[in-house]
This record gives sequence, C-alpha cells and structure tokens, in this order.
Amino acid sequence: MANKKILYDGKAKTIFEGPTPDTVVQYFKDDATANNAEKHSIINGKGVLNNAISDFLMKKINELGIPTHYIKKINMREQLVRKVEIIPVEFVVRNIAAGSIVKRLGLKEGTTFLRPLVEHYLKKDELGDPFINEDHIINFEWGSRDELDEMHEYGLRINDFLRGLFLGIGLKLVDFKIEFGRFYSEDGSSILLLADEISPDNCRLWDTNTNNKMDKDLFRQDIGGLKEAYQEVANRLGILPEKKTYASTKTEIVK
Ligand code: TMP
Repeated sequence: MANKKILYDGKAKTIFEGPTPDTVVQYFKDDATANNAEKHSIINGKGVLNNAISDFLMKKINELGIPTHYIKKINMREQLVRKVEIIPVEFVVRNIAAGSIVKRLGLKEGTTFLRPLVEHYLKKDELGDPFINEDHIINFEWGSRDELDEMHEYGLRINDFLRGLFLGIGLKLVDFKIEFGRFYSEDGSSILLLADEISPDNCRLWDTNTNNKMDKDLFRQDIGGLKEAYQEVANRLGILPEKKTYASTKTEIVK
C-alpha cells in the first residue's frame, strides 16, 4: 500500500483510500494494545490471522442477510471494504461474565447470563471508551432510534449465529464487540452496515473443555500464547492450510 493515502491509522488496523471513492482498504497490523494503548506489543503474524478470521466471519454474516462493509480479501493483510461513516458507539454483546462487567458489577467470572446482554460504549479513546446508554446515543445524536433498533437486532442475530458456529468447533463465545457505519448512496440516503472486524481481538473465546482463553485476554492478562491461540481458532474454523495443535490445551480437532 506504499502509494495509497492513509485515511486513518488505528491501533490494530490502518485504513487506506480504496480504488473507488466509495471503498477503502483495511490493513491488519501486528500491533497488540490493551488498557487504551498503555500496553503495546508487536505479535508477528497476528494481522494475517485476524484478516483471515474476520474475512471468514464477515462472509458468513453477509450470507445471513446482515449487511456488512466487506467486499473481498485482497491479500494476506488487506481487505477491500465499503467506505462508511462510523457510528461512534461500540456494541458489546455478552453471554458469560468476563472483563469489565465483572469489575463494574462485582460478578463472578464465568457466570452465564439469563439471556444475551447488549451494552453500549462511546468510541472515544481520550475518555477510555465510557459506558453509555441508549438515551445518551439519541440525545447526543450519535445514532437515531431506528438505527439503534436495527443495530440491536443485528447484534443479537450475529451473537446467535456466532455462538452456534463457535460451539461447533469447541469454543464458547463469551462476548464480543462490533461497530456499525452508515453507507451513503448518491441521493444522500444511508443504510447501516456492520463494519470494522470480527476476530479474537474483539471477542472472548474459551475452550469448551478446558475454559482456556483463546483471545486477546492472553495478551491483556500477560498469559502469553496469543499467536498459537489465534492459529488454533483459525485452524478449527478450517481456514488454515495445514493442521496445527494448540500445545497448551493439547486439543486436536479431527475434521
Ligand atoms: P470489556 O469486558 O473489556 O468491556 O470487553 C467486552 C468485549 O469487547 C471483549 O470481547 C473485548 C471487546 N472490546 C474491544 O474489542 N475493544 C475495546 O476497546 C473494548 C473495551 C472491548
């Protein structure tokens, strides 16, 4: 992407201008960050794995009839996607208690919720992505009532689908974060598209047998083995050319 203009340089991805005005190129970097980028490392190959995993999952979600920004994978690190105006709200869907909700509400990690829980966070690094509610989103015009309803419905459908898909490969979908954007037509009207990425960087995935973490918590909590875990997720999804074994769990999936 040497000659392309950078439109946005994020923590784990860089967005370049695309071949047409209504597209951009997402480049997946090897950077891993946590605690609002206070902690930072380069994990060789993470970007390649996340590109492959997100490519696979976005295609599946498109097939479900949920519109996404995804157009195609260009190479090992890049995807061509539709250019959207990102809605500054992070949607988190939780099935099992882990991460920030455990601290905030004093829950026991691993508790399964009665039903999936949807939360909203403002996408603002300077403020540490604070927890917000629907009234904030509507009052400050970050999104309309109709958009919120649509995003909520998409979030729960994506959860339902991903939960089943991951369960089939021996992983519990604990929680995940998604983002949406507005894609404008020439007449000024817009439709909502699922944007960003879906990968173990923004999901929590636990092995169903061992409860071992197979996601970015391995980095956040200094457990280690992030690359091997992401490789194992990709392998179980059937998107790695060769079969690998995740050494620390000794789990081998026979397809
Ligand atoms: P949390 O428990 O830290 O609130 O995170 C919930 C889920 O959202 C978890 O799967 C990690 C993901 N997430 C992101 O992808 N980006 C973020 O900036 C944050 C805070 C969480």
